Amino acid sequence: MAKTKTTFICQNCGSVYSRWMGKCESCGEWNTIVEENMTGGIGGGPMQSRRKGRPAALLPLSGEMEEAPRIVSGIPELDRVTGGGFVRGSALLVGGDPGIGKSTLLMQAAAALARGGHRVVYVSGEEAVAQVRLRAQRLHAADTSVQLLAETNIEDILATLAQDKRPDLVIIDSIQTVWTDMAESAPGTVTQVRAGAQALIRYAKSSGATVILVGHVTKEGQIAGPRVVEHMVDAVLYFEGEGGHHYRILRTVKNRFGPTDEIGVFEMGDGGLREVANPSELFLGERNGKSPGAAVFAGMEGTRPVLVEIQALVAPSPLGTPRRSVIGWDTPRLAMVLAVLEAHCGVRLGQHDVYLNVAGGYRIREPAADLAVAAALVSSLSGRPLPAECVFFGEISLSGSVRPVSHAAQRIKEAEKLGFRRSMMPASTGETPKAKEVETLEIETLPHLVAEVAGRQIEVEA
Ligand code: TYD
Ligand code: MG
Repeated sequence: MAKTKTTFICQNCGSVYSRWMGKCESCGEWNTIVEENMTGGIGGGPMQSRRKGRPAALLPLSGEMEEAPRIVSGIPELDRVTGGGFVRGSALLVGGDPGIGKSTLLMQAAAALARGGHRVVYVSGEEAVAQVRLRAQRLHAADTSVQLLAETNIEDILATLAQDKRPDLVIIDSIQTVWTDMAESAPGTVTQVRAGAQALIRYAKSSGATVILVGHVTKEGQIAGPRVVEHMVDAVLYFEGEGGHHYRILRTVKNRFGPTDEIGVFEMGDGGLREVANPSELFLGERNGKSPGAAVFAGMEGTRPVLVEIQALVAPSPLGTPRRSVIGWDTPRLAMVLAVLEAHCGVRLGQHDVYLNVAGGYRIREPAADLAVAAALVSSLSGRPLPAECVFFGEISLSGSVRPVSHAAQRIKEAEKLGFRRSMMPASTGETPKAKEVETLEIETLPHLVAEVAGRQIEVEA
């Protein structure tokens, strides 16, 4: 019997401590350190091996290769995110807040694959069989050959899977509910999550089945963050959405077999998730182009253009320190744009509250939104609506110049498709995007934009 050793492990980042602490020194989270028992092995240092090492062959870098074989779900938004289908023998982590729709998405994917003749096993550790059946019925998946297993013990799950012909896809919903006999900690702790993931990934590699692990992300860090699993799996997808909005975005965070900046857009409805083939139409849905402070940003998500409205409200502040509130964008990035506006354009916002919102609950991750944000701010401050049917994109540098961004041609093409007729953008470098219907206005500096937006004759001042 191995000696039992007690350690304290941060449930958020997996750091190991010899005593309890209120705050994890490594990730800075509070109340995430939990006592766990370890019997050597996982997390407890190497165990003494009873076996003598066996030498393996060393290989050159060049040699035979083959394209990773994939199983295609036939749900284009999902296949786009995985890079063309699930790779056989790989392990994926699908993370997201509880209730966002992970189980729904995976049940729909399972049904689609089963209809395509693949063998799919859905392991539910979280919900009872009746609940899963009810969802399957609602999603019109009940008549497919998806096999259900309500089990949480890893050894039992693997034994069940080994009984029959190898499945093509195994879904574990969720990794936080499974536990192994090998570790003594409670299910959901870092030790259990890590050991469970290790066993399942080993199963994927040795059997050739694709394994999808579902992981809940909790802000409090009470349940072991699936973060500790991220580096072990081949791909990490995050399923996100904004409370109060129906649409959901599936985003690739890591992918050893494909691109990492793709997104899939879905809409949650009564019959489950519906694909949104053209996200721009969704995000621009309730647009009112006539009011000041609203600018349309022509953005990119991976290889796909997305148009979204940026709304700014600038109002005199009663407070000593004016308020800066940002939803859907970076607060430091807003501070930078405000500083450049003040330093290079004489637009003073030091006495104003600034509210910035990205419509539809969408989140922008590109610096290319700088120009659209600046246009929205100046428009709100001056009270003049921006030119109708105009899109904006471009990165602003600290010197006040507007820097070119990638994929200009694609952004303009998308704008054209959605009926926009003008575009304010950086001076193009080389590739001249020529869309017949869209008049492009090249903005070289931020003062140039301010003049265009607020009008030359109007003094923009606080
Ligand atoms: P679920 O897939 O259970 O979320 P997760 O597995 O990420 O915790 O989805 C939960 C939410 O989705 C729940 O609030 C109900 C809603 N929902 C629908 O709106 N329509 C549907 O068809 C289904 C199945 C769920
Ligand atoms: Mg679920």
